Amino acid sequence: MGPTDQEAGTARSAAKPDRNLALELVRVTEAAALASARWVGRGDKIAADQAAVDAMRHVLDSVSMDGTVVIGEGEKDEAPMLYNGERIGDGSPPTVDIAVDPLEGTRLCALGMPSAIAVIALAERGTMFDPGPCVYMEKMAGGEEIADLLDLDRPLPETLKLIAERKGGSVGDVIVVMLDRPRHEQAMKEVREAGARIRLITDGDVSASLLAVSERSPVDLLWGIGGTPEGVISAAALKSMGGQLIGRLWPRDDEERSAAVDAGYDLDRVLTADDLCSGDDVFFSATGVTDGDVLQGVRYRGPGATTESLVMRSRSGTVRRVHARHDRSKLREIIGERYG
Ligand code: FBP
Repeated sequence: MGPTDQEAGTARSAAKPDRNLALELVRVTEAAALASARWVGRGDKIAADQAAVDAMRHVLDSVSMDGTVVIGEGEKDEAPMLYNGERIGDGSPPTVDIAVDPLEGTRLCALGMPSAIAVIALAERGTMFDPGPCVYMEKMAGGEEIADLLDLDRPLPETLKLIAERKGGSVGDVIVVMLDRPRHEQAMKEVREAGARIRLITDGDVSASLLAVSERSPVDLLWGIGGTPEGVISAAALKSMGGQLIGRLWPRDDEERSAAVDAGYDLDRVLTADDLCSGDDVFFSATGVTDGDVLQGVRYRGPGATTESLVMRSRSGTVRRVHARHDRSKLREIIGERYG
């Protein structure tokens, strides 16, 4: 018996590679990185962010898709562009959710510190977690090897011990990356008393999550309370990179707690990367603005500039590193001063 028409159609479509939107998204994050890099170390995080938003928006308009921003720059009244709910693209398929952080680590960029990145993720419509009123979540992330050991309820020292055992070393070998915040003081104390080491970062837990799940990474675990939108974006990257991120919403006060409960959020639920981004076809691109462990930042070379990006698609599992050389004078001719 031969294949049915439907089976034959499925086989044909399985064999035919379709458009990899991530390859278009890299132009979007490159543009944001090139534009915000002009503001590195100039002490003005608002201007740096605005430059990234404007440039990202300018290139996003050239991507054929029917996109809705679900993780954006905030609400329409506060953010003139890339606000939550904004429709992007020319309305042609695919229909996607968009998560953007045109400049992740605005302060890092303004102060010329490591690991500021421009980042965007796309997934099938309705598959990205909506953080609602919850600005923060507790997060834990680590590579494939320790993915099953992540647990937000087990005392941190015990988890560190398990990680050390799994990796065949001692607790003193383990490095935890966490945001340097007063809210983390107790955890810092516990990690240090357990004998593990800490890498404190002032900002940028998307970059830190990517670092924690990367193979041959200098750090083993990301832990801490950081932005919920950043958690969703990190989860989108993990769909291609592997590893795991778990999170639990962390309301800042009773008002936020009530708003979340009233909106139907379960504050006890531990969310996995699949809960935060449940799509099967997730596209992701990040470009370095300042140098970091994960990505090199924008470098100016005479009339040119170079960028480095991580470009991924979860369906194929392809992770690309794209090194690009840009001719700033030609870009200026085409799109004006935007790219410096
Ligand atoms: P911005 O780029 O919006 O400044 O966010 C940077 C960041 O450090 C995130 O990486 C992190 O998730 C969040 O801020 C932490 O929030 P807070 O600075 O309020 O502790």
